[in-house]
Amino acid sequence: MLNEEVVERPSLEIAKGPMRRDLVRSQALSDLSARLAETITDISSLLQSVVQLVASFLGDTAVIRLVAEDGEAMTLMAAYDTDESVAATVRAALQTLPGDITALVPYSTVLTEAQPIQLAGERFSDALAPMPEASRAALDAVGLYTALICPLRVGGQVIGTLGLWRHRGSEPHSERDRGFAQELADRAALAIENARLVERLQGEIEQRRQNEENLRLTAALLEQVDQKRRALLEHLVSAQEEERRRIAVDVHDDSIQAMAAIGVRLQIMRRRVETPQLAEQLATIEDAVTDTISRLRALLFRLEAAPVEQVGLGRAITRYIAEVFPGGEPQTRVTSTITKELDGAMQIVLYRVAQEALSNVLKHAQATHVTVSLTDAVGGVQLTVVDDGVGFNPSEAIRHALPGHLGMRSMHERAVVAGGSLEVESKPGAGTTIRCWLPEVRG
Ligand SMILES: Nc1ncnc2c1ncn2[C@@H]1O[C@H](COP(=O)(O)OP(=O)(O)O)[C@@H](O)[C@H]1O
Ligand SMILES: [Mg+2]
Repeated sequence: MLNEEVVERPSLEIAKGPMRRDLVRSQALSDLSARLAETITDISSLLQSVVQLVASFLGDTAVIRLVAEDGEAMTLMAAYDTDESVAATVRAALQTLPGDITALVPYSTVLTEAQPIQLAGERFSDALAPMPEASRAALDAVGLYTALICPLRVGGQVIGTLGLWRHRGSEPHSERDRGFAQELADRAALAIENARLVERLQGEIEQRRQNEENLRLTAALLEQVDQKRRALLEHLVSAQEEERRRIAVDVHDDSIQAMAAIGVRLQIMRRRVETPQLAEQLATIEDAVTDTISRLRALLFRLEAAPVEQVGLGRAITRYIAEVFPGGEPQTRVTSTITKELDGAMQIVLYRVAQEALSNVLKHAQATHVTVSLTDAVGGVQLTVVDDGVGFNPSEAIRHALPGHLGMRSMHERAVVAGGSLEVESKPGAGTTIRCWLPEVRG
C-alpha cells in the first residue's frame, strides 16, 4: 500500500532503473521518519507502525525484538507481513526461540558488533536450530529462506534488532538492501528511544501526581489528628478547670471559714485573758491566722476560673498582674499583637502558664521589670515572660525539683499537652525568660 503510494509519486516517474530505485528508497526513508515523528504515543503502537512500514518497503516479513532492561533477554515486540497468516506463523515460530537469545550466535553477534548480518543457507538453518522442529517446518512451509538482522542502534547502544525475513521467489538481500535496512533500523531505534523517554517522563509525571495525592491525603489525615487532639485538649483543660473550681470552693467554704472561726475565738480569748504575756502570745497567733487567711485568699484568686473568655487573654493577664503585684514593684508591661486564631482551651493554657511564670517572678526573682508579650510565631503563637531578676539554673531546678515545687513541671506539661513547647532561659544573676509556643488552629 505504502509502497505503491511512494512509487507513484509524480516526481519519481521520470527516473528509471537504479536511480529510480534510489529515489524510491530515499523517499521511503523520509516517509518513515515523518511517520515516526507522528507516532510518539506508546511504544507498542510505535513498533507496530515501524514493522508495517518496513515490511511494506522491502516486501519482507519485518520483526522487532527489544533487549530487556537488564540486557539478558530479548522479547519479540512486533512482527508484520502484508499477509497476516504469514505474520502469524512467523510470530508463533519466533516465540519458540529461547528468550535469552542475546547469548546465542548469530543474534549475540548483531548485539555486540552492532552490524547487520545476513542469514542464508546453513547460517539460516543454524540460526533456527534452537527452535523445535515444528516451528522450523512452519517457517519453511511459508517459504522463508533468508533473513537480514539489523541492530537497532541509538546513542552507541544496541537496543534490539530489526529482522527482515525474505520469502522464496524474491532475491536475497543485496548490499544496497542491507544499507537501506540498517538506515531504517537506525531511524526506528531513535523513535523507539524517544518513545521510551516519553513513557518514562509520563511515568514520572504520574509518580509526581501520586506523590501530590499522597501528600494531600497525609495533610487531611494530619488535620483529622489535629482536630482530635484539640478536642482532647479541650476536654482535658475543662476537666482541669473544673478541678480547680472544686478546690477553690473547698478552700473558701472549708479552710478559710475554719481559719476565720479560729481567728474570732482567739480574739475573744485574748480579750478575756488577764496575763499580758499570754495576751501577747495570742495576738501573735492571731496575726499568723490573719496571714494564712490572706494567703488562702490569694490562692483562691489563682484558682479562679481563667477570665479569658470574658475579657480576652491579654486583659486577663493584666488583671492577674494587678492583683499579684499591687505595689507597682516590679514595673510590669503586657503587650499582645496576636492576629492568629486561638481557641478557648489554648487561651486557658497560655493564661495558666503566664500565671505560673508570674508567680515565680513574685516568689523568687526580686525583679524590677517584668514584661509579658503575646505574639504571632512560626506556625503558632508565643507567650514570653521576661524578668530582670536574680535568675537561676533551669536544668538544676528541673533535676533537683523539690517535692511540692511543681510550677516548672506543670508549665512544661501544659505546653506539651497542647501540642506546643516551653523554653526556659535563665542564668544566676541574669534574669529569666520563659517562652511558651502553641500551634495555631489549622484549616
Ligand atoms: N523567675 C524566676 N527567677 C528566679 N528563680 C526562679 C524563677 N522561676 C523559677 N525559679 C527557680 O526555680 C525553682 C522551681 O520553680 P517551680 O517549679 O515553680 O517551684 P516553686 O515556685 O514552687 O519553687 C524555684 O524554686 C526557683 O528557685
Ligand atoms: Mg513556682
